[in-house]
Amino acid sequence: MFRDGVRCVVVVGVQWGDEGKGKVVDALAERAALVVRYQGGANAGHTVDAPDGEFVLHQVPAGILHPGTRCVIGNGVVLDAETLFHEIDAIVARGVAVAGRLVVSDRAHLVLPFHKLLDAASPRSREIGTTSRGIGPAYEDKVGRRGVRVGDLRDAGLTDTLVRAGCERANAVLQQWGAPERCDPESVTAGLAQLAPRLLPFVADAGKVVWTALRDGENVLLEGAQGALLDVDHGTYPFVTSSNTTAGGAVVGAGIGPLSVHAVLGIVKAYTTRVGNGPLPSEAAPEEGDRLRSLGDEFGATTGRPRRCGWFDAVVVRYSARVNGLTDLAVTKLDILDSIDPIPVCTHYLLDGRRVDDIPDTVPELERVRPVYEQLPGWNRSTADARRVEDLPAAARRYIERIEALAGTRVRYVGVGTRREQLIEVP
Ligand code: IMP
Repeated sequence: MFRDGVRCVVVVGVQWGDEGKGKVVDALAERAALVVRYQGGANAGHTVDAPDGEFVLHQVPAGILHPGTRCVIGNGVVLDAETLFHEIDAIVARGVAVAGRLVVSDRAHLVLPFHKLLDAASPRSREIGTTSRGIGPAYEDKVGRRGVRVGDLRDAGLTDTLVRAGCERANAVLQQWGAPERCDPESVTAGLAQLAPRLLPFVADAGKVVWTALRDGENVLLEGAQGALLDVDHGTYPFVTSSNTTAGGAVVGAGIGPLSVHAVLGIVKAYTTRVGNGPLPSEAAPEEGDRLRSLGDEFGATTGRPRRCGWFDAVVVRYSARVNGLTDLAVTKLDILDSIDPIPVCTHYLLDGRRVDDIPDTVPELERVRPVYEQLPGWNRSTADARRVEDLPAAARRYIERIEALAGTRVRYVGVGTRREQLIEVP
């Protein structure tokens, strides 16, 4: 992706998350000076299959596995500092250096124990099927202008006041819901007092770090989490996460201006999955869904939940291309379709008998649409060893070309397995 005039690339999920962003970010990070996470938090699970084994990263940007790359957790992230250090300890134990290579924005908001209690007890969270990582309640406090920011940890008195108020509010809500759990402000403050000396050396004005890298002509990768259809504005609201997962969120969440971005790479699975509740128009019939799930090992990297599985949905991808301003696509997990023949591809929907080519405005409408499929021939051969487009069977190449035509966006990468080298660059 990085080439003359393209130094700042945003990577976004095109569908409902779990598209394999970690693998693509890992591949691109080799040429990036900086990899920036710009939204979401520990709800994300980016899996990277590196030569020394698999890493599942939740909050640390996937660039950390390349020694020459620095990583940033931007202001748009909600940070669970306790689990961040579990993650850091685990990767350091496997020989990855983190000190001096990770910057955490002073403006990122903290996910605190009461956010997790609220997320777990909230009837609304259960309806949505959240990850229970406290993401929604932490963003609620941010927008409600009562959150605790990472930089606030420099002032123990301020932190204490904000935590007490947060616990009091949370306990009142928990009581109202009839939940037995309560949050003890003393233990939250004590936990933060213990974490602060470890976290603060990483803390800086992250936007300035990103801006400086761009000013100096370095390559910067902005790594999105989740996917466009989970975006709080553009997704299948209210069955969404609480942040802007689309490319617009990248500049806000990294602290840079929109004209800094040169390319937007959308990561799209060769079929479709979704975790949690909400519409999924191209969801496969149970038996076919089970087959895709087992072929694709479609279980949540964060929660272990089985993912709902379905066919490639061109309506979703065209919509995503529009709201993200995609310049390029990476199609992942093509190899999972190796034994499926024919392969259904949803080209458009019928809504109350009318043809629809775009995502309808409301969830009730989206729940009513009927996907219309065309059947593409399968290739019944392993693609796992393909390293160039020419190595792919002709039917697999046609599948990619059809995706490209339906999406109206150029396919630049094709993933054929979990390993680093199983990523084909399309010339
Ligand atoms: P939350 O982000 O935990 O609030 O969950 C809101 C919705 O987003 C739920 O449907 C989750 O399953 C979904 N979600 C959150 N993070 C991810 C992810 O990384 N991959 C896929 N789905 C996610």
